[in-house]
Amino acid sequence: MKVSLIAAVSENRVIGAKGDLPWSLPADMKFFSQTTRGHHILMGRVNYESIPAKYRPLPGRENIVITRQKAFSEEGIHIFHTIEEGIEYARQQGEKELFIIGGGEIYRQTIANADRLYLTHVHAQIDGDTFFPEFDASEWRVEEIAHHAKDDVHNFSFDIKMYERIF
Ligand SMILES: NC(=O)c1ccc[n+]([C@@H]2O[C@H](COP(=O)([O-])OP(=O)(O)OC[C@H]3O[C@@H](n4cnc5c(N)ncnc54)[C@H](OP(=O)(O)O)[C@@H]3O)[C@@H](O)[C@H]2O)c1
Repeated sequence: MKVSLIAAVSENRVIGAKGDLPWSLPADMKFFSQTTRGHHILMGRVNYESIPAKYRPLPGRENIVITRQKAFSEEGIHIFHTIEEGIEYARQQGEKELFIIGGGEIYRQTIANADRLYLTHVHAQIDGDTFFPEFDASEWRVEEIAHHAKDDVHNFSFDIKMYERIF
């Protein structure tokens, strides 16, 4: 099973501000939905609760949520108290590519063991409070997936790239 991180990241590595995404990029949301659909997705409890209630669990995907709270419960999701148990659950279900969808705490703890990164590079310097971890670009082969210009509904331009680990 491949373990893939998927994230949208500003030039200064910001991924979140005040518990939310600091931009609205519908074409990137569409890429995220198409890429993760049909797969297991693993996320931190904070990220899960930042998704508006009417959109969660994210449909067409098995939602795995990681929390240290033993009493946390919600319908329609798989809850684990360690990241390793969540990853192992997806593996046991026969998943071929698990998507780790954030947020910052979860990316930080999983990037060292990731096989792939799908990163949307948002062309902006953003004032935020949650960051994507730094990584060594020489450890990855980069493939360009798409470019999107700034327009009426996208407040920033962005490039989507896929990084495949070579070391
Ligand atoms: N730009 C992007 O692509 C993107 C993607 C996702 C999220 N985001 C943004 O990121 C922000 C949320 O990220 P965050 O770093 O604050 O939180 P997070 O990573 O989503 O969740 C953190 C929580 O996960 C649980 N957790 C983390 N590590 C754990 C471990 N080893 N074992 C058990 N439980 C663990 C804990 O839950 P409990 O407190 O319940 O114990 C912890 O409080 C939001 O602003 C969101 O919009 C951005």
